[in-house]
Amino acid sequence: MLVLNGPNLGRLGSREPEVYGTQDLAAIEHHLTAQAPNGVEIDLRQTDDEAELIGWLHEAADSGDPVILNPAAFTHYSYALRDAVALVTRAGGTVVEVHLSNPSAREEFRHTSVISGVATGVVAGFGADSYLVALDAIARRARG
Ligand code: DQA
Repeated sequence: MLVLNGPNLGRLGSREPEVYGTQDLAAIEHHLTAQAPNGVEIDLRQTDDEAELIGWLHEAADSGDPVILNPAAFTHYSYALRDAVALVTRAGGTVVEVHLSNPSAREEFRHTSVISGVATGVVAGFGADSYLVALDAIARRARG
């Protein structure tokens, strides 16, 4: 399973902890790995680069691997990322959009997600647990 993280999420832990909590991506990866069903490998990645993130989604489109995606600020304006997510989901793949915070309860510009309309589902507002809820949702879908 791919767990893809967009810009500035490499700074989790110290970045606005009152909004995003104190866990960094290594801690989130640790919890995901502990909760993953047997045989499911967690491949967590982060980039500040839109092109790299799009390349990883193309990889998921080809492999059929499910994706947990925190698009960070790209959520709000990247049509290129939206198209890459659609490429995965319209081919039958799973992409769960996650956010640590609840963007709908924050500044106006965060109320728009250009990703949600093509994602399989969205989990937001539970801090680092948003990732674990997304993992659970993907595992349940896989069980059918
Ligand atoms: C975020 C919410 C976005 O609005 C913001 O730009 C982020 C993080 C979240 O996880 O709450 O970088 O995706």
